[in-house]
Amino acid sequence: MLILGIETSCDETAAAVVNSQNDQLKLLSNVVATSLQMHQKTGGVVPEVAARAQLESILPVITKALEEAGLALKDIDKLAVTFGPGLVGPLLVGVETVKALGLVLNKPIVPVNHLLGHIFINMLEPTIVDRLSTIDFPLIALIVSGGHTDLICMNKDYSYKWLGGTRDDAAGEAFDKVARLLDLGFPGGPAIEKIAKEGLPAGRQGNPNAILFPRPMINSGDFDFSFSGLKTAVLNVIQSTNYELQATSSKADIAASFQQAVIDVLVAKTLKAAQEYEVGQIIIGGGVAANEELRKQLKTNCQKMGIKLAYPSKSLSTDNGAMVATAAFFLDKVVSPLEIQATPGLYF
Ligand code: KG4
Ligand code: ZN
Repeated sequence: MLILGIETSCDETAAAVVNSQNDQLKLLSNVVATSLQMHQKTGGVVPEVAARAQLESILPVITKALEEAGLALKDIDKLAVTFGPGLVGPLLVGVETVKALGLVLNKPIVPVNHLLGHIFINMLEPTIVDRLSTIDFPLIALIVSGGHTDLICMNKDYSYKWLGGTRDDAAGEAFDKVARLLDLGFPGGPAIEKIAKEGLPAGRQGNPNAILFPRPMINSGDFDFSFSGLKTAVLNVIQSTNYELQATSSKADIAASFQQAVIDVLVAKTLKAAQEYEVGQIIIGGGVAANEELRKQLKTNCQKMGIKLAYPSKSLSTDNGAMVATAAFFLDKVVSPLEIQATPGLYF
């Protein structure tokens, strides 16, 4: 079965084709166009600009994904599209396009929750960190993106329980805001990771222990998160009299220390969830899951506890169409074209 997955919830316009044969999923094409550069001037995504970029890119991106897979639209068995959460303008572009395609071509449509896409991408391409080559259930999934930080426990039948989420800023949002404070550009996650690792200019690595930032809610006894206070703590350090923004080694130290604070909280809460729900598998997804230091430290801790860890390749951690097609394969909830509605506030 051939599934075309379409993702337009924010600043990426993405389409991918996944083929399922004998219960094996194969990625045939994966095309991502991003309006990121347009948002660099403003230091964040401007919804109207993102929506316009979606409109310009959607048909060329779909065409390219089909071309790369060596297919025509008529060959596709199912259309899958992100219907939320996300920005309303960008979401509408994907949803309305798929609606039109579904009606004209008489193809079934699977609406996909973007957050579940970040989880299910692990079933397409597991980079299992230890011996076994399958994902075990039940599992704990950590979703860490620009808009969300959530922990869920998922069962074998893909039913799930939401355990907790951020009460204010998402992890990726905190990376973006701190990068802005440090004048590192947008998106902030990759920029912070880079200068923490390489220094600025490249030379001396940032010291993750240079500044002891708070680890918000690390011992809160629940599975909620809060990252906005951490951002304020960074601002306080920047504004403090003995901090020299020009002293580039300081920037690398702040970046590394901030990154470590976020990682400590994410790792502690994810492992605690695994223990409490007695699961042997953790999976992660979302843009922040591309962070190498997070992957490394989670891996070390999982190995100590005998828990399996899976994460997507970096390019499939950030938004893409393959996650939508893969989630559609597993969830397989077909609706008629007129039933599907963009739902910006969708959650679990
Ligand atoms: O999942 P995603 O592509 O879009 C949303 O659904 O939000 O996540 C984007 C977020 C941004 O906040 C970006 O700064 C962050 O993921 N991000 C990273 C890294 N790469 C992207 N954060 C930390 N380290 C990274 N390497
Ligand atoms: Zn996302």
